Amino acid sequence: MAFKRNIVITGGAGFIGSHVVRLFVNKYPDYNIINLDKLTYAGNLANLKDIEDRPNYKFVRMDICNFDAFYKLMQDEKIDGIIHLAAESHVDRSIKDPFTFAITNVMGTLSLLQAAKLYWESLPEKYEGKRFYHISTDEVYGALSMTHPEGIEPPFSTTASSSEHHLAYGEDFFYETTKYNPHSPYSASKAGSDHFVRAFHDTYGMPTIVTNCSNNYGPYQFPEKLIPLFINNIRHRKPLPVYGKGENVRDWLFVEDHARAIDVIFHNGKVAETYNIGGFNEWKNIDIIKVVIKTVDRLLGRKEGEDMDLITYVTDRLGHDARYAIDSTKLQRELGWEPSLQFEEGIEKTVKWYLDNQEWMDNITSGEYEKYYEDMYKGK
Ligand code: NAD
Ligand code: DAU
Repeated sequence: MAFKRNIVITGGAGFIGSHVVRLFVNKYPDYNIINLDKLTYAGNLANLKDIEDRPNYKFVRMDICNFDAFYKLMQDEKIDGIIHLAAESHVDRSIKDPFTFAITNVMGTLSLLQAAKLYWESLPEKYEGKRFYHISTDEVYGALSMTHPEGIEPPFSTTASSSEHHLAYGEDFFYETTKYNPHSPYSASKAGSDHFVRAFHDTYGMPTIVTNCSNNYGPYQFPEKLIPLFINNIRHRKPLPVYGKGENVRDWLFVEDHARAIDVIFHNGKVAETYNIGGFNEWKNIDIIKVVIKTVDRLLGRKEGEDMDLITYVTDRLGHDARYAIDSTKLQRELGWEPSLQFEEGIEKTVKWYLDNQEWMDNITSGEYEKYYEDMYKGK
C-alpha cells in the first residue's frame, strides 16, 4: 500500500499556498491534503478551481488563531504534517496596520504550534513521523548593502540560466546563519513567528523546519504586489507607482520553483534545520519594471516600450529595505533542488498568464480592494 499522510497546508488559497496545494494534490494522490484558510482579502478559492473536486483534497475555512477549532481538526483528521503559509504578507499593509500582522503571523503561528504539540504529545508515538514546516521570508534578515550598483546591466538577454550569470549588486548575501534584523512590521512579525517555531523544537522536541525564501513571482499573486499590480496597470494604461528612485534590489524566484522546494524540504529536509530558497536572480525594481512594460506591450500588440511614460516616481516606502539577495547553496548542495526556469521564460509566462486571465484579475480589482488601493495611494 502506498504511504499515506494527512497534511494541513495553511494559507492554501493564497498565492504561494495555492501552488503548493496544487503540486501536492497532483503529485500525491494517496495523501489527504487539507487546505486551511480564513479567506482574507488575499485568499481566493478561484486559484484552485482545477483541483477542487479531487478526492484527496478538502478545503476548510478557518482562522489559524482559532486554537480549539484547529486542535479538533488535528484530532479528526489525524494530522501528521503541517505546511504553514497562512500569513498577512504585504509590507505596505503592515506599515498601516501592524496589529493585524502580529495577531495573524505571531499569535496564529503560536496557536498552531500549541495545538500540534498537545495533539502529537497525546499519541503513543508522539512526534515520530510528524513535521511542522514553517514558510518564512528573506525579509527577516534585514537589508543588504549595495556596494556596486553602478554600470551593470541585468542578465535578461542571456540564454544561460540566471544562476550561471548571477549578477550581484553587493558582496554579501543572506545565509542561513545571518542574524535576524527585521525592519518592517511585516518582517518583524515573521521573525517573531520563526522564533516561536524554533523554540518549539528546542523546548519540546517538535520536529520543525523553517525556510526563508526570496520574492516570488508568477500566476495567482494578489495585485497589490509589484509585478501583478504593474501588469494590470500597464494593460489599463494607469500610472505605475515606483517607490523612491526604483533602485531597490529584490531577488526573484518563480513561484512553482518555490513550491517544488517546499515539496523537497517537507519530505527530505532535516528536522530543526533552516534552508534558504532563492534563484540567484537579483534585479533593481526599475529594471524589472522596464522588462514588464516591454513584455506587456509586445504581448498586447503595442509598440514595445510605448508605455514607459506610465512610470511615476512616488514617495518611498517607509523603512524601504535596499537589497535582498539569498544564498541558496545549502539547499542546492544538500537536497539537490535548483530553480527550473530561466527568468526570461518565467516573466514571459507570468505576463501571459495575467493577460489571459483578465476575469480573475477583474474579480479582485473591483469593489473593496479597489477602494483600499485608492485610499492607500491617495496623495502619492
Ligand atoms: P498571500 O497573502 O497571497 O496569501 C496568504 C493566505 O493566508 C491567504 O489565502 C489568506 O486568506 C490566508 N490567511 C491570512 N490570514 C489568515 C488567518 N488568520 N487564518 C487562516 N488563513 C489566513 O501570501 P503569499 O505571498 O502566498 O505568502 C505565503 C507565505 O509565504 C507567507 O507566510 C509569506 O510570509 C511567505 N513568503 C512569501 C513570499 C512572496 O514573495 N510572496 C516570499 C517568501 C515567503
Ligand atoms: O522578499 C520576500 C517578500 O517579498 C515576501 O516575504 C513578501 O510577502 C512579499 O510581499 C515580498 O515583499 P516586497 O515588499 O519585496 O514585495 P512588493 O511586491 O510589495 O515590492 C517589491 C519591490 O517593489 C519593493 O522594493 C517595493 C517596490 N514597489 C512595490 C509596489 C507594490 C514599488 O516600487 N511600487 C509598488 O507599487
